[in-house]
Amino acid sequence: MKVYCTKNYEEMSRKASNLIFAQIISKPDSVLGLATGSSPLGIYDNLIKYYKNGDLDFSALKTANLDEYCGLEKSSPQSYAYFMYEKLFKHINIQTDNTNIPDGTNQNTESECLRYDQTIYNLGGIDLQLLGIGHNGHIGFNEPSESFTHGTHCVKLAEKTINANKRFFDSIDDVPKSAYTMGIHTIMNAQKIVLIASGSEKADIMYEMIAGDITPKVPASILQLHKDVSIVADEAALEKVLKMGDNLPFWCEISLQFL
Ligand code: GLP
Repeated sequence: MKVYCTKNYEEMSRKASNLIFAQIISKPDSVLGLATGSSPLGIYDNLIKYYKNGDLDFSALKTANLDEYCGLEKSSPQSYAYFMYEKLFKHINIQTDNTNIPDGTNQNTESECLRYDQTIYNLGGIDLQLLGIGHNGHIGFNEPSESFTHGTHCVKLAEKTINANKRFFDSIDDVPKSAYTMGIHTIMNAQKIVLIASGSEKADIMYEMIAGDITPKVPASILQLHKDVSIVADEAALEKVLKMGDNLPFWCEISLQFL
């Protein structure tokens, strides 16, 4: 696990964008696993800039998003399909057929989960998975639980998650109570993982993820076992980790890189 420590959100976005840039340059038909939330917005802005400057071509790129709220139409401004279109896809030359997101309107949970797992399988798996992290350690919408999940499943959202995401809705009652998410096993199968985090409100969970026990109660902690994971986070998010100094756990192979 490599931990890149940046000064602020902007630098975090720049460093993480560079990792994605390198992936697309070296393999233009990569399968990128994409995330939503506030954290990746700076990255998506940078990718749009690279495209507009003629530095990146997205025409062969394929994407698979981590998750989607159940019950929201794609046209709903709070849906992740809408988010991806507005914040990235409509600004670059990606082919719509090459973008994949769970279908939150499919009420047949079993068929939707199978369909999405099959989609990822047909793509040949994920080359680089971008992740944010929830305050409770969730990745995608894999909430803390008693065991790590496998493939795509429908999840009941934790109260903490509903509270954290209410800022995107008119009221807390409008936040969907469940979502489809890629499973932990699928995420761990990605060739590379880049997890981003910014701000002091993530400091506790970043510490638990990097230096705590590997447990499904902190789903992101499983990333300690992945062979190629880069954590790109700002000083505020890494505040507690940085305080450990030389006492950082050796099994995480942490190399702090200050930018
Ligand atoms: C949501 C998403 C996650 C994301 C998390 C953190 O719950 N499903 O994929 O990582 O929010 O969001 P933010 O980056 O806004 O803190």
